Amino acid sequence: MSNDRLKLLLTRRWPEAVEAYLRERFDVTVDEADRPLDASALRSAMHSFDIVCPTVSDRIGADVLDLPDARVRLLASYGVGLDHIDLAAAKRAGIVVTNTPDVLTEATADLAILLMLMASRRAGEGERELRAGAWAGWRPTHLMGQSIAGKLLGLVGFGRIARAVAGRARGFGMRIAYYGRTRADASVEEATAAQFYPSLESLAAEADVLSLHCPGGPATRHLINAALLARMKPSSILVNTARGSVVDEAALADALVERRICSAALDVYEHEPRVTSALVDMPNVVLLPHLGSATLETREAMGMRVASNIEAFISGGEPRDRVA
Ligand code: 8YV
Repeated sequence: MSNDRLKLLLTRRWPEAVEAYLRERFDVTVDEADRPLDASALRSAMHSFDIVCPTVSDRIGADVLDLPDARVRLLASYGVGLDHIDLAAAKRAGIVVTNTPDVLTEATADLAILLMLMASRRAGEGERELRAGAWAGWRPTHLMGQSIAGKLLGLVGFGRIARAVAGRARGFGMRIAYYGRTRADASVEEATAAQFYPSLESLAAEADVLSLHCPGGPATRHLINAALLARMKPSSILVNTARGSVVDEAALADALVERRICSAALDVYEHEPRVTSALVDMPNVVLLPHLGSATLETREAMGMRVASNIEAFISGGEPRDRVA
């Protein structure tokens, strides 16, 4: 593919340095409104651009991809998660898809730890109390949380981000366990000091903190449902930095109301940016607005990873992060 007049769409605003890098090299259009594109805007983008760079906020299903005479040849997605793109439909249409793994591993692992600590130490409750002018001063029984040292961290999925979380959690003196569809090599288990659990149910029953790190999409939809929540300890904490679809949010709200688990700390939601209102009203829930990779360094690195995938694609090579 020649770079002459190659038209590229960024569906959202990206960090300035990356936008500048791309503008120097391509005919770049940026959606200045910085709002999610609907299906009809995405369909028209498939006709008008050679390369579309979507994000998690763009739902690119078969209705967007199964188009006669589409111009788009590459979907260079900004982010590691791919559940917003119908990869089978992209393959059918002969459209190459890439993502941005690796570069957001550390930032997302940091955020999982942040959520775990916020929930275990009741940080949100304390901050809200102080800002509301309701702090009555120090006392031995005020907002007591739970220690995490010696507790069992159960990782659901054991990819790059989960392993990075394990490393951090070991530093806090936690014990590490994981459940995944395939068991990791013995060398990885040894390096991460992580114990494999052959079933999610058994991991959920024993974990003090259950942290989700599996991909989204139909295969993991509502993996954390009422039955699974019922197996967890009343003192346990659920952390989700993966995808909202993995958790049945209504069942989670019920479990929290009935005190079947102690608390939840979430960065992702089933219907972003909408959040189940019962969760918003609960003090023992930490809610962040999908900030997993939101550091300047990481968001720039994600953009540069997209750029390198595009450059490989147009020079006729295999993009490093090709997924379809
Ligand atoms: C991104 C994420 O911010 O990479 C992912 O899968 O969830 C976030 O880190 C977002 O997806 C950008 O598209």
